[in-house]
Amino acid sequence: MKVAVVLGTRPEIIKLSPIIRECARLRLDYFILHTGQHYAYNLNQVFFEQLGLPPSKYNLGVGSGTHAKETGKMLIGIERVLLKEKPDVVLVEGDTNTVLAGALAASKLQIKVGHVEAGLRSYDRQMPEEINRTLTDHCSDYLFAPTEKAKAILLGEGIPDDKIFVTGNTIVDAIYQNLDIAKKGGNTLDTLHLAPREYFLVTLHRQENVDDSARFASILEGLNKVGTEFHLPVIYPIHPRSQEMMTEFGLEPRNLKLIEPVDFLGFLQLESNARLILTDSGGVQEEACILNVPCITLRDNTERPETIEVGSNILAGASPDKILKYAELMLSRQDNWTNPFGDGKAGERIVKIVTGAEHG
Ligand code: UD1
Ligand code: UDP
Repeated sequence: MKVAVVLGTRPEIIKLSPIIRECARLRLDYFILHTGQHYAYNLNQVFFEQLGLPPSKYNLGVGSGTHAKETGKMLIGIERVLLKEKPDVVLVEGDTNTVLAGALAASKLQIKVGHVEAGLRSYDRQMPEEINRTLTDHCSDYLFAPTEKAKAILLGEGIPDDKIFVTGNTIVDAIYQNLDIAKKGGNTLDTLHLAPREYFLVTLHRQENVDDSARFASILEGLNKVGTEFHLPVIYPIHPRSQEMMTEFGLEPRNLKLIEPVDFLGFLQLESNARLILTDSGGVQEEACILNVPCITLRDNTERPETIEVGSNILAGASPDKILKYAELMLSRQDNWTNPFGDGKAGERIVKIVTGAEHG
């Protein structure tokens, strides 16, 4: 049994790390194929180093481009590697262009595809991620749904029950495996002169938010209002996409402290001590929920409705007034919700299933 782990971006490295660790622990025959979608040190290599992951056997060096350019180059490169390596199963995670390319290349070669984090839907086809995740689900053989809700979505789309496995989300594993280390490690809060619970944390990078100048400006205005109203610093580790768009649009955020993207342990420290998190990231919505920190999602929809249902998250969209109003609301909310994303053993379960050690 040979396993190929295909990844390419920051969240995939983080969320696949528990699976890679499990493959290594069991001494399985596996390899990592990196598409090179993310290549900056602080979006890529830092996570391999910090999470102690083995190096990728292949890096396609695809880099940035339009959706078709990225996906097309990946398809060609992934196919070449799969033909050479002949793995029995290809694992992909999430909803990026890398995920779609990995799933499509493998399924056309009749190689089994395992989709980690299957069954998420925002029902918003404007988002490239929605197209990627839906298509990937429909060409996968193992659908690893993080929750029963995700499984119900897949069943509703006609995917057979015996392909779907509710495993929990591997982000819980990644947090449980790293939070203690993060607490003991170097202190990101001290470096940034922040006190626990006395700052807000922001991430914002999604295409639909930052590639639209009016929408990006509106969200920045909302963040400015929140910082001003509550007299607390607002920290924004800025994704390179957002930095580029901010420069191109000539936007000058007020009341925001922009910093470089942070490594995972540093980011866990920032998240777990924040008074409130404001984000458009999928992974950050989940992490806020798991870490018991209230979250405002700067989008009109979410494919993580479990977070809204348990009360950890609320959708504010891009309106400055709504962002401010919801900040007031979430600051008064009790943080005693239950984590809906599992027990931190998703990685173990997934590896057992693909290696045939467990069925059903
Ligand atoms: C991608 C995913 C998104 C995910 C995000 C995680 C798709 C369609 N989008 O978005 O779902 O939330 O990763 O962070 O797959 N750039 C750099 N250095 C890098 C990588 C990117 O400077 O190492 C800049 C380039 O200008 C590039 C832009 O960011 O054009 C966008 O990169 P891309 O990988 O296309 O999409 P992301 O916005 O990172
Ligand atoms: N993250 C990080 N440093 C940062 C911002 C985010 O390590 O400066 C981590 C975060 O903990 C989460 C993941 O990156 O696990 C989320 O990735 P991102 O927001 O880029 O993508 P998305 O989840 O929206 O696809």
